[in-house]
Amino acid sequence: MKKIAVLVSGNGSNLQALINSCKNKKIKNGKIDLVISSNEKAFALERAKREHIKTFIVNKKSFENTNKFNNELLNILKQNEPDLVVLAGFIHILSKQLIEHFKNKIINIHPSLIPAFCGKGYFGINVHQKAIERGVKISGATVHFVNEIADDGPIIIQKSVEVNPNDTAQSLQKKIMEQAEWVILPQAVEWFCSDKLKIKNKTVYIDRMEN
Ligand code: GRF
Repeated sequence: MKKIAVLVSGNGSNLQALINSCKNKKIKNGKIDLVISSNEKAFALERAKREHIKTFIVNKKSFENTNKFNNELLNILKQNEPDLVVLAGFIHILSKQLIEHFKNKIINIHPSLIPAFCGKGYFGINVHQKAIERGVKISGATVHFVNEIADDGPIIIQKSVEVNPNDTAQSLQKKIMEQAEWVILPQAVEWFCSDKLKIKNKTVYIDRMEN
């Protein structure tokens, strides 16, 4: 059983999708061991606490500088040594050191079809606003491994969602969460936890044979 750390900053609906998937055995080979929130008011913390998952708060504002914040984050993770780190709406960029320490063990969910609407400045509702402004007919979500460049790591799974003429950034965000994010994040986690993912160059290969 793989130990999972989930990093959050907000509502935690993706964390909830992971919790539900562990309960209903869509995730069979992983267990959420800890949740780290960068925001003490994040509802994600409530979601974790009601499942008796241990929680940590690492609020960037309460540190003298970014280095100290990064060190604390790394220390908590090192002390718990998870097999997998999931960024589920975590709003901070991870340090090179952390990414190196957990090389190919960190995954992120991004609410667009990468490489569209991603990278610097593309976070939160902004991603969907840009998609609406550009008039795309499909958008979606992507789960990918994390490397040192924002939204650039090897792609594990993507799911598309249709954009309708009457969609707003808000309605698109909701649709993408419900139809894509909450489906593909648990799937990617289960694949990782059952050792089904192999990375070669920048491509992820999924072993779909049933054991
Ligand atoms: C999601 O849209 C996720 O893709 C993005 O941040 C949002 C987090 O939502 N990275 P939640 O906290 O999981 O509800």
